[in-house]
Amino acid sequence: MKAHSERERDTTIEALSMDEIWVQGGRRLSGRVEVGGSKNATLPILAATLLAPGVYRFTNVPDLKDVSTMLQMLSRFGIVSRREALHELSIDSRNAQNADAPYELVKTMRASIYVLGPLLARYGEARVSLPGGCAWGPRPVDLHIRGMQQLGAEVEIEHGYIVARAAALRGGTIAFDVSSVGATGNILMAAVTAAGKTVIENAACEPEIQALGHFLRSMGAQIEGLGSPRVVVSGVTSLHPADAPMIPDRIEAGTLLVAGAITGGDVETGCVDPAELGSLIGKLEAIGASVEISERSIRLRASERPTPISVTTAPYPGFPTDMQAQFMALLSVARGSSTIVDTIYHDRFTHVAELQRLGADIRVEGNTAHVHGVEALSGAPVMATDLRASAALILAGLVAGGETRVSRVYHLDRGYERLEEKLEALGASIRRVRA
Ligand code: UD1
Repeated sequence: MKAHSERERDTTIEALSMDEIWVQGGRRLSGRVEVGGSKNATLPILAATLLAPGVYRFTNVPDLKDVSTMLQMLSRFGIVSRREALHELSIDSRNAQNADAPYELVKTMRASIYVLGPLLARYGEARVSLPGGCAWGPRPVDLHIRGMQQLGAEVEIEHGYIVARAAALRGGTIAFDVSSVGATGNILMAAVTAAGKTVIENAACEPEIQALGHFLRSMGAQIEGLGSPRVVVSGVTSLHPADAPMIPDRIEAGTLLVAGAITGGDVETGCVDPAELGSLIGKLEAIGASVEISERSIRLRASERPTPISVTTAPYPGFPTDMQAQFMALLSVARGSSTIVDTIYHDRFTHVAELQRLGADIRVEGNTAHVHGVEALSGAPVMATDLRASAALILAGLVAGGETRVSRVYHLDRGYERLEEKLEALGASIRRVRA
């Protein structure tokens, strides 16, 4: 049974789902804001609690819709979660058992596929719905499936479900032709108790995957090479529960820094790991902002319209695709023409039409957006199409003349914890309007 407080929280987040965010543009942001825990690290780490029965305690857990969805998924397997405090979570997987990961949940959050590896490792069988398409393209899961096969699983697609079976997983070599965050995480979780050695070539190096790997190690797993493209797992016979703090959300940090940059402001983000934001900091400097780095914080000062630049997304440590939309908002008011190439998701441009409604001059050609900076944007009603797109529209609204009303902010609530309150604390004129 879910703790009472958790049920209430779910209800609250659901109730927020039809809300709008109204922004009055033109305020220069300044001040310091603290960044929360990483959504993309939290999701696989929560799934990893399937691997060993016991009680876990996590801190710095963001209060987000996607986290609730993962907890809802885990509750189907008999895992009990309880929010001990707003950002503290305890998980009890002592009575966990195998069950289907149903379409209703997987289609709302693709990261649900993270239960595939742990279920297969622990129970020798997993039934996980295929997620289907998403707003910006097909987003296949073939690498997850092929990886499980390399570890000795038999995998079939039955009635829209991935059905994977293996009496006992055994180590193998998995060479990804594309670097995949999710597939690397899933294989790691499947491989930790497989017999023998697993080598993952072209493994994702993202900090969130490193965080998962470190957590698995604290559960007793043997993993070498985290953060490099070659990760080696030596299977162990058993794992034990562990506690962990979640790492900072580098995408939230980046979004808040862009809020500073787009308003010509002076914004400091605290509770961050600047080493994880290298490519982003480089681009913020290239647009003309001054960036000061301390051990756990980043301060950005911008005084004029951005200098146009080119941005190409790439796997970590390259520029993150999850910051592409926010940078497009920023470059739409630059002093000239910029190009943005998304090499990870070629169709991730649903925000373009909405930014155009605010007066942005953007032309998309294949996976390249040509952004011709305009002197001013003008506020309008716009619709969020996905998580990062919603952040981009709010950022654009911060500089657009008059009012921008962003609808469908349930996308935002999946991955940003009360972004509007953080922006308001920095001086933005912004509010959530309840539906
Ligand atoms: C994760 C992040 C998401 C981010 C993305 C890329 C989470 C919960 N989500 O998503 O925010 O935008 O990384 O940094 O952490 N691919 C395949 N076959 C597969 C899997 C992926 O072809 O089986 C391709 C994808 O289409 C994409 C590329 O690999 O072009 C990278 O995707 P991947 O890293 O797997 O993204 P996710 O893990 O889904």
